[in-house]
Amino acid sequence: MQKLKISGGRKLVGEINISGAKNAALPILAASLLSERNISLNNVPQLNDIATMITLLQSMGVEVIFDDRMQLNLNAQNVNKLIAPYDLVKTMRASILVLGPLVSRFGAAEVSLPGGCAIGARPVNLHIDGLRAMGAEIEVQDGYIKASATKLQGVDYCFKEISVTGTENIMMAAVLANGKTTITNAAKEPEIVDLANFLRTMGATIKGDGTNTIIINGVNKLNGADYKVMPDRIESGTYLVATAITGGKILLKNTSENLLGSVLSKLIEAGAEIETGTDWISLDMQRSNLKAVSFSTSPYPGFPTDMQAQFCALNSVANGKAEMVENIFENRFQHVVELHRMGADIQIKGNIATSRGVDLLTAAPVMATDLRASAGLIIAALAAKGDTIIDRIYHIDRGYERVEEKLQQLGASVSRENS
Ligand code: EPZ
Repeated sequence: MQKLKISGGRKLVGEINISGAKNAALPILAASLLSERNISLNNVPQLNDIATMITLLQSMGVEVIFDDRMQLNLNAQNVNKLIAPYDLVKTMRASILVLGPLVSRFGAAEVSLPGGCAIGARPVNLHIDGLRAMGAEIEVQDGYIKASATKLQGVDYCFKEISVTGTENIMMAAVLANGKTTITNAAKEPEIVDLANFLRTMGATIKGDGTNTIIINGVNKLNGADYKVMPDRIESGTYLVATAITGGKILLKNTSENLLGSVLSKLIEAGAEIETGTDWISLDMQRSNLKAVSFSTSPYPGFPTDMQAQFCALNSVANGKAEMVENIFENRFQHVVELHRMGADIQIKGNIATSRGVDLLTAAPVMATDLRASAGLIIAALAAKGDTIIDRIYHIDRGYERVEEKLQQLGASVSRENS
């Protein structure tokens, strides 16, 4: 089990390149199943979750080649296995994203139920309901979703609850279905728009992505595509918060100013000086004192749940009190007990965490429990007095490319250790 050792108290100063978005690359990789033509992808982040998705696609017969220009080339002409096995799905829940494409192009799929994870039960009932509404026969048996359909039919489908990957699965099912599909109460995340842009590049007919109503007219076949994955807005937000907590200054390159509105406004409220350009964001916290900021997570364009743990860490040493409300997942405060070990004063009552800033956190051995919780612990460790050891760091490798290298580029004292 690998650990990160972070010696806190150093300002983060410098510039880094933001990687491609994990949560855009995953559905786009799954969408490669929809065509038998060549797909070339750029800006795909090198992360464990991406590797798992590639392994899953290869197990189905998709040909995957990384060329020397870090371009990922895929071809799904010879897919011969329509199964997503438990041993892969259990390591990466987003494997559920192959369900829609498989049923849509091949009329069959057997996908292991993803099961829950640290942050919640993570059901996929809405994915299944949507595909059933499109005419798929689906039974859930022996821990597997077994789906079949002669030909999916376009449908008007309203999500009872907003679901990011649920919306993505129904989008990918609809692009090859018979007729028109209207998805209402659709997720509006930028990653939905990136998937829609990719599908349009393949020849799909999609409108309304980024709003709560997406309209898709099915086509018979999809072409190949060359596509560049969007920047990772959560990685961007994470490094901005890491810089803010250390009173530093950072320039993020290869990102985008219009992906993080709710996060940037919270950072400005916390006292940060923010400037943005088309593909860059800068933050300067050298002349300000950190003020605690309250927030309530909600689907895009609201404050992202994937930034909640990072702001928990920030608020733990900010001036004043903050109320942090988690509305998306039922168990997404596991980082708080670890922050307590570092001296944070955060009380949890139901889905509300109330923080009172302390002058200084102190280093302690802590344990990562999920991807974004580990980002929160890294942020706390950067500001804490002493050497913090963060265990189970494989969580962070799922979603942050070359994390210690990027932190070292910014002046942090961080090293990876094998225990
Ligand atoms: C996506 O997960 C992201 N993952 C998550 O990022 C992110 O936290 C989440 O959206 C919310 O923004 C990817 O895109 C790969 P949901 P997803 O379906 O799609 C309930 C990270 O850190 N729900 O939008 O699984 C669900 O339990 C990860 O990168 C159902 O009840 O989330 C939750 O309470 C963590 N039934 C709410 O909806 C369903 O069928 C939103 O979940 C589906 C969801």
